[in-house]
Amino acid sequence: MRILITGGTGLIGRHLCKALLEEGHQLTVLSRHPETVAVKCGAAAQAMISLDEWQPERFFDAVINLAGEPIVDEHWSARRKQVLRESRITLTEKLVQRVAAAKQKPKVLLSGSAIGYYGDRGDTELDDAAPAGKDFAAKLCKDWEEAALVAEKHAVRVCLLRTGLVLSKSGGLLGRMLLPFKLGLGARLGDGRQWMSWIHIEDYVALVLRLLNDDQMRGPFNMSAPQPVTNAEFTRTLAKLLHRPAFLFAPKPVLRLAMGERAALLLEGQRVFPAKLVAAGGQFKYPELAGALDDLLHQ
Ligand SMILES: NC(=O)c1ccc[n+]([C@@H]2O[C@H](COP(=O)([O-])OP(=O)(O)OC[C@H]3O[C@@H](n4cnc5c(N)ncnc54)[C@H](OP(=O)(O)O)[C@@H]3O)[C@@H](O)[C@H]2O)c1
Repeated sequence: MRILITGGTGLIGRHLCKALLEEGHQLTVLSRHPETVAVKCGAAAQAMISLDEWQPERFFDAVINLAGEPIVDEHWSARRKQVLRESRITLTEKLVQRVAAAKQKPKVLLSGSAIGYYGDRGDTELDDAAPAGKDFAAKLCKDWEEAALVAEKHAVRVCLLRTGLVLSKSGGLLGRMLLPFKLGLGARLGDGRQWMSWIHIEDYVALVLRLLNDDQMRGPFNMSAPQPVTNAEFTRTLAKLLHRPAFLFAPKPVLRLAMGERAALLLEGQRVFPAKLVAAGGQFKYPELAGALDDLLHQ
């Protein structure tokens, strides 16, 4: 397939590009830094610096849309919130305009979202049909999904990737946690009762390939392992595998003071189940956390 991917240089994108190239697909990666594409995504990947390069005559079989400014890195000022929205929603709107203008439409659009779609839901078990939350992150995901769904008007199959916490050794949540945990400074966040719905990067990539190829799959998909854990259990499991203590905890008020509204990403959670993927026979090589972490730590 000829595939256009946005966010291909990111944590998920790099793993995905490698798998897509290995399967023999032709990749075009939209990036603000085209000179990095060959190194990050693979020598065979072509770079595109602007969507203006997608002229109506140009054909892609599939579009994968993962681009977005990192959500946890910076304080959520009004300006930052706007940047977070534009890098996802405005970019997706522009992408769908290109889909609409294309003489021959792509067959499928796989577009990013996150389990933050559901907002803070305590212990409630959330399948793919659960309603959206109301906080900033939830609204961001909802609007991002709605922008992508416009492609359905052009007879494009749309899958929405409601992504859980992707575990990879090369970055993301686990990449950030490893150093403090190795130093014995791993800490539960708040009371540790908030849910963490995680997924091993290998399973994530395999599931994206399934969504790409299976014409029956459409709509939202919870992209997380079938056994979510609480933050306390995550902390215990990681510390045990690293043979380090984890007696510390980061008090809620301190995190709220240091991070402001953004602290919700750490102190609130979603107990998500990949019901649609499981019903469609989706397989998880790493369904439980200890096995997933053990594999990643020994890579
Ligand atoms: N990793 C997770 O655990 C997780 C969980 C839930 C949801 N997600 C979502 O899934 C997507 C991919 O995640 P990731 O971890 O791979 O993200 P990442 O490593 O931060 O990469 C995101 C990519 O988006 C592009 N990008 C960033 N800011 C942009 C902007 N202002 N305009 C255009 N492109 C921009 C960048 O590409 P260039 O620098 O090449 O332009 C970057 O490589 C993100 O949208 C993220 O919100 C991730």
